[in-house]
Amino acid sequence: MSDSNNQGTSDLWGGRFTEATDSFVQRFTASHTFDRQFAAEDIQGSRAHADMLAKVGVLSPEELESIHSGLDQVAQEIIDGGFEWHTEREDVHMNIEARLTEIVGAAGKKLHTGRSRNDQVATDIRLWLRTATDTALDEITRLQKGIVGLAAAHTDTIMPGFTHLQVAQPVTFGHHLLAWNEMLDRDWSRFYDCRRRMNRCPLGAAALAGTTFPIDRYMTARALGFDGPTLNSLDSVADRDFAIEFCAAAALLITHLSRMAEELVLWTSAQFDFIDIPDRFCTGSSIMPQKKNPDVPELVRGKTGRVNGHLMALLTLMKSQPLAYNKDNQEDKEPIFDCVQTVLDCVRAFADMVPACRPKAENMRSAALTGFATATDLADYLVRKGLPFRDAHEVVGKAVAHCVSAGCNLEDLELHTLRQFNDVIEGDVFDILTLEGSVAARDHIGGTAPRQVATAAASAMAHLEARSV
Ligand code: ARG
Repeated sequence: MSDSNNQGTSDLWGGRFTEATDSFVQRFTASHTFDRQFAAEDIQGSRAHADMLAKVGVLSPEELESIHSGLDQVAQEIIDGGFEWHTEREDVHMNIEARLTEIVGAAGKKLHTGRSRNDQVATDIRLWLRTATDTALDEITRLQKGIVGLAAAHTDTIMPGFTHLQVAQPVTFGHHLLAWNEMLDRDWSRFYDCRRRMNRCPLGAAALAGTTFPIDRYMTARALGFDGPTLNSLDSVADRDFAIEFCAAAALLITHLSRMAEELVLWTSAQFDFIDIPDRFCTGSSIMPQKKNPDVPELVRGKTGRVNGHLMALLTLMKSQPLAYNKDNQEDKEPIFDCVQTVLDCVRAFADMVPACRPKAENMRSAALTGFATATDLADYLVRKGLPFRDAHEVVGKAVAHCVSAGCNLEDLELHTLRQFNDVIEGDVFDILTLEGSVAARDHIGGTAPRQVATAAASAMAHLEARSV
């Protein structure tokens, strides 16, 4: 691709101007350096618009034919890299249209009938973002399947569950993974909803008020795969809420990924040592030969700031804009592009890496044995023997304090010692003090019992399989 920087009044609006645009202003206002990213969508939109103009009699069949063949050539030049981008042609739309006119002559000049760059860009960005949304939906599904598959293989692998990052109660690794799946499931549905609202065609709104030509907006909407035309011409060119929604969904998604990333980083540390991330997803240190660093989750965690920043940028860009189109909206492109690239890369990295992680079940189990993880089970036991919960809580608190000073765990205490705290305690207490007993007892929907986790994993997988058909 080459760029030229011709001086002079623009051929596209020179009629009204008495002097050339300042060359700095030309560069300042131009967007082709980044909006060329949706050149393919711009050409696709032009083809649909031209077909419609021909159908309603604004273009002759011959003119339509030459527009299509000219656009073929433009598309090829862009793919081959021979297309010359002109800064005085400002953006992707005018660069393509001007080149088309160079190639096919008069017919090219008719393409912009009943259209404006305002409805054109609103269409292009929707088409481009719709494809990105579809990729996000597919990649989230792929990640979810990987997570649920791993969960199904670890329905009875016990690990400590944490609150305040302190050992709280035992859970199964499968249960923890299914929590991640729930977060991602809501992310998926946010992108899905966003796509539905995005998928309306603004073409025909023209600059802001519609057009005097007998256009068929249903035809262009259908041709471009939209669910129908947008319903108000001013709104069609003015709002970018669909892009803000995308970034909001992306911000939540990457925030969820950052939480998973944080856990992976912790779990791979020597202090936890719960999982192993395969070498291909890690890097070493240039100075410390022993190091294997979890760079992929760390980078995902770090990239969260940038996606959240793009959401703020778009919200601030839209704030207080009067209707209808304002040039401010040209500033939506770079945040959208970077947001899409970043979030898709992060989901892809996780979809590849997470299912390949190897849990270390023995280490997880030993960690669950520390920190009095079954203390709540003992309190619940006392409640079943007739104590009010608050009293039971007090009794167990004292037993734990005793263990802390004796340097042992609850299950290490003799029955007679336990009975000193409350004499309703009997020999059956030891069943509920085990990790297996503790998790198995939480046997209700949404609970961590292996039986429940197996059912939840199976139904999550069935839901995901049904999604992809
Ligand atoms: N490059 C512009 C954008 O990205 C296209 C629309 C320009 N319209 C206008 N009237 N200046 O928003």
